[in-house]
Amino acid sequence: MVDDQAVTAEVRGNIVRLVFGHMAAQVVGTAVRFRLPDLIGDRERTAAELAEECGTQPQAMTRLLRAMAALELLAENRPGHFSLAAGGMLLRTDRPDSLHALAGMFTDPAMLQSWQRLESSVRTGETAFDQEFGTDFFDYLKTRPELSALFNAAMSQGAQLTASVTPASYDFGRFDTVVDIGGGDGTLISAILREYPALNGILFDTAEGLAQAEQTLRSAEVTERCAVRAGDFFASVPEGGDLYLLKSVIHDWDDERAASILGHCRRVIPEHGRLLIVEPVLPEAVDGSNPAIMYLSDLNMLVNLGGRERTRGDFEELYRRAGFELTSVTPLPPPAGFCLVEAKPS
Ligand SMILES: C[S@@+](CC[C@H](N)C(=O)[O-])C[C@H]1O[C@@H](n2cnc3c(N)ncnc32)[C@H](O)[C@@H]1O
Repeated sequence: MVDDQAVTAEVRGNIVRLVFGHMAAQVVGTAVRFRLPDLIGDRERTAAELAEECGTQPQAMTRLLRAMAALELLAENRPGHFSLAAGGMLLRTDRPDSLHALAGMFTDPAMLQSWQRLESSVRTGETAFDQEFGTDFFDYLKTRPELSALFNAAMSQGAQLTASVTPASYDFGRFDTVVDIGGGDGTLISAILREYPALNGILFDTAEGLAQAEQTLRSAEVTERCAVRAGDFFASVPEGGDLYLLKSVIHDWDDERAASILGHCRRVIPEHGRLLIVEPVLPEAVDGSNPAIMYLSDLNMLVNLGGRERTRGDFEELYRRAGFELTSVTPLPPPAGFCLVEAKPS
């Protein structure tokens, strides 16, 4: 228990910051939808010019730009004149390390609509997204190709940090063929294949999930060694791998659906094969070892996807259900915040 003295002005300020947090997210989302970081680019631009180019009310544009400056995305060099700060640079679309799609996706009205029903999801445990839209998240994306492309790009941008540290954190060299299940645009498998020139790959996802894969594989110069297969992991997964990889896939689903995906992997994996889930592993209780974003992601799974983040015990149980045995949990170097949760057939 904390005593009253712990309730400082700083703690009070933190509560106010938390409550205003969704407004900050809207500023970031609105900025990328107007493409303000691209329009400002390497120059100093005036609010009047940007209002004209974006077709907005001038004073309102100034206010948006000033909020961006206060949030350290821009600098206001003199009244009404703005240039990008480091944060704003990361929202340009022309940078390889850009986060603009992540910002656009996680502030998209479709995702936010479910968050408005968090209270109801907590009461019932039901996925708000399915109730709002009458379909699950991935089926909904099939009806919105532009949002699906944004989602794929957001996943790729979110995966870059993990992809940069995964190849050196695990001995992929002892396998012949790695199959990335739900591998999206191939950001992770590309990084692994680049580091292990003798390794072959199979990238597996839905047709929508794979829509941007060709380009990613080509830029990484691994197209020749990576087959691309479209399908549904609730029906089957490709044969032919001795390592099956699932990054940020199992957390999208409840235990029953997750066990079904793993069960399909169990049917095709050889006895000497390995399966690797790449996800956060939550401690049994909140101990400060994981950033708050992991727990927000967990709630995002509740409201938008119907999945959840899991503890080591949860993974052990899930693996057991699907005919696997957990063999190791290897945390990736910070700040990735992800672990390699390895299993072998039991
Ligand atoms: C959260 S994303 C993760 C993508 C990628 N592994 C990453 O970490 O960046 C989940 C992926 O699962 C794919 N997916 C969803 N339902 C699927 C299904 N029924 N069969 C195959 N892939 C599916 C999605 O298209 C998406 O690429």
